Amino acid sequence: MGFTLDKVVPWGRSYEEYVALFGLTESDLKLRLLGCGDGPAGFNAELTRRGGRVTSIDPIYAFRTEEIRSRIAETYQPVMEQMRANQGDYVWTTIASVEHLGEVRMGAMKTFLADFDAGKRQHRYVAAALPTLPFKDRKFDIALSSHFLFLYSAQLSAEFHLRALAEMLRVAREARVFPLLKLDGGRSPHLPVVTEHFAEQGISVEVRQVAYEFQRGGNEMLVLSPA
Ligand SMILES: C[S@@+](CC[C@H](N)C(=O)[O-])C[C@H]1O[C@@H](n2cnc3c(N)ncnc32)[C@H](O)[C@@H]1O
Repeated sequence: MGFTLDKVVPWGRSYEEYVALFGLTESDLKLRLLGCGDGPAGFNAELTRRGGRVTSIDPIYAFRTEEIRSRIAETYQPVMEQMRANQGDYVWTTIASVEHLGEVRMGAMKTFLADFDAGKRQHRYVAAALPTLPFKDRKFDIALSSHFLFLYSAQLSAEFHLRALAEMLRVAREARVFPLLKLDGGRSPHLPVVTEHFAEQGISVEVRQVAYEFQRGGNEMLVLSPA
């Protein structure tokens, strides 16, 4: 069966969140970046506005703006209710409350929706799905995965993670993944498999602390780069 939008809960983070959760420095932001599974995040739109070079891939980019907009509208209330029910699993400092979270996320998704048609024409939003990327080797400097790999460890196998990360390292010279946690807040069981596999291949593997924590305990990213 093909990818259908009714299975997706579109929920996108802001530019500021991406910068913090990937520890992106001013010089990182000048590089050629690839976001894998960016969905309706505001990162691409805002970085492009600031003069950066970024491409995003996601299977939802096969859909039209209006289709994604109505899916966001449908899922917004259920997601907010879930967040209210599970407030204790999150750290409410930078994002102060569930209501504030709703504003930040909707702001990011509106930024995305306003940019989507132009970005698609400019090939900044490409409909594609890991573990296969439609790019030539080393087209990018850093490939990013925010809230896709590791988070969905119950749905995606260790084998999928190895293939996806190998593909990210084919098209970029570094890969960063955040968070290292599953949806239920525990550490991904795939993390040791991934770190051992890439270390054996001579890839530099680092678990780096970042200045971002929303999911309680989620303040680390994985950085892979060929030595
Ligand atoms: C929880 S959202 C995260 C969105 C964004 N990265 C962020 O942090 O705000 C997960 C995204 O992964 C996308 N996705 C699902 N399957 C994928 C695949 N095989 N490859 C890449 N992205 C995928 C979904 O469409 C969705 O947009």
